[in-house]
Amino acid sequence: MEDCKVQYKKIMAAIDLSKYSEDTFLHAYALAKALNAELTVLYVIDTHYMDTVERYAGVAGFDRDALLASQREETQARIEKELLSKAPDYKARVEFREGLPWEEILNAVKEENPDLLVVGSKGHSDVAGVLFGSVAEKVQRHAGCPVMIIRGPEHCRIYG
Ligand SMILES: Nc1ncnc2c1ncn2[C@@H]1O[C@H](COP(=O)(O)OP(=O)(O)OP(=O)(O)O)[C@@H](O)[C@H]1O
Ligand SMILES: [Mg+2]
Repeated sequence: MEDCKVQYKKIMAAIDLSKYSEDTFLHAYALAKALNAELTVLYVIDTHYMDTVERYAGVAGFDRDALLASQREETQARIEKELLSKAPDYKARVEFREGLPWEEILNAVKEENPDLLVVGSKGHSDVAGVLFGSVAEKVQRHAGCPVMIIRGPEHCRIYG
């Protein structure tokens, strides 16, 4: 019998460190482990607001690079503490990108070709009554790979 052509060898979890991120990560991790796949955790530093600040803040000596570096360092520490610590037996790669979150998630998918992208249904805004946040909505519409959408902890928490 011919082997199945579909394989899950690379799994990418996009996380924003909102209340949705732990479950998003845990589902990606569970699948990666079961399928012996590579696991990448992607965090996009939203530089859109920085660009706006920069436009007005020349006077205040706004240091974009320093701000980005410290944000990255803080975020890396939080990812390790809040997510990677839940998967001590797995070597997940952490990837940072800068720009508009939806655009950079789609760029990462284009460049790295994961077999599956895992995202939360919503994130920090978490507007009540809304099914999907704008990032989840755009990436599921345009990503060139299957997208798994993890709803909030009230639906998805399966670990004690
Ligand atoms: N900066 C980011 N980096 C990586 N993944 C992100 C980022 N922002 C959002 N995501 C992914 O998209 C999911 C849905 O978040 P989204 O931003 O769409 O919802 P929201 O914050 O509730 O709404 P909105 O941002 O449209 O106001 C998140 O759980 C996460 O998986
Ligand atoms: Mg958001």
